[in-house]
Amino acid sequence: MPPVNKDPSDGLFRTDDGPHQIDIIKATLVGAVPAERHLSALRGCFSDNAAYQAALRDGDRLVYAVQSGAADGGPGALQYGLGVIQPGRVGLEFYMTKGHQHTWRQAGEVYLALSGSGGIVLQAETGQARPEHKTDTVRPQDATGLADATDQARFVPLTAGQIIYLPGGTAHRTVNTGTEPFVYLGVYPADAGHDYDATAASNFALAVLAGADGPVATSRADYLAALSTSGNSAAADTLGELHD
Ligand SMILES: [Fe+2]
Repeated sequence: MPPVNKDPSDGLFRTDDGPHQIDIIKATLVGAVPAERHLSALRGCFSDNAAYQAALRDGDRLVYAVQSGAADGGPGALQYGLGVIQPGRVGLEFYMTKGHQHTWRQAGEVYLALSGSGGIVLQAETGQARPEHKTDTVRPQDATGLADATDQARFVPLTAGQIIYLPGGTAHRTVNTGTEPFVYLGVYPADAGHDYDATAASNFALAVLAGADGPVATSRADYLAALSTSGNSAAADTLGELHD
């Protein structure tokens, strides 16, 4: 018998109902209620505003959904979320989550990629050192063409089976750089909280764009500058390795 939400109003499983089933083929947490984010909920996230407006006119498409399981709280309680980002782009920029800091800044998180291909943009808070990671296996590989573009942010490509630990104080945004849904599981303290305002004003410093030889993480400031001077197609030329 599949698990059911004790409280459908918040869309969360209660972990004492477990175990719960992740259906990899359907990219779903069986029985959970997905919280869906469509293009209209991502206003201000994609830098190519003309492409964003055109995409909205074309239909308010689903970009991603999260299904979550929670404990009933208390010190030390954990929560988890199954994220599914659809494949797609706005202009050159791949579909992605809004991204957030944890309201409780010290709260870390573990991400496990389950299927598809994508990655995560990590960003330290202004004035802090760039986030560093202790596991060599999650460092960007030279062969991917992905590289750090600022001192305070980095993009880490993730494919199925890869796991990454995000230390506290690290803003994070997940990106689908592939042609299939990118599915991942995040586990974090139940009282971590989601602070979207921390990154909404200035957006993440890296934009993950479609390049001629695959995904490219580039400075958002450079992308915006190229867009403002020459529009999308010329921006691709200005940025050299990009194409539509
Ligand atoms: Fe998080």
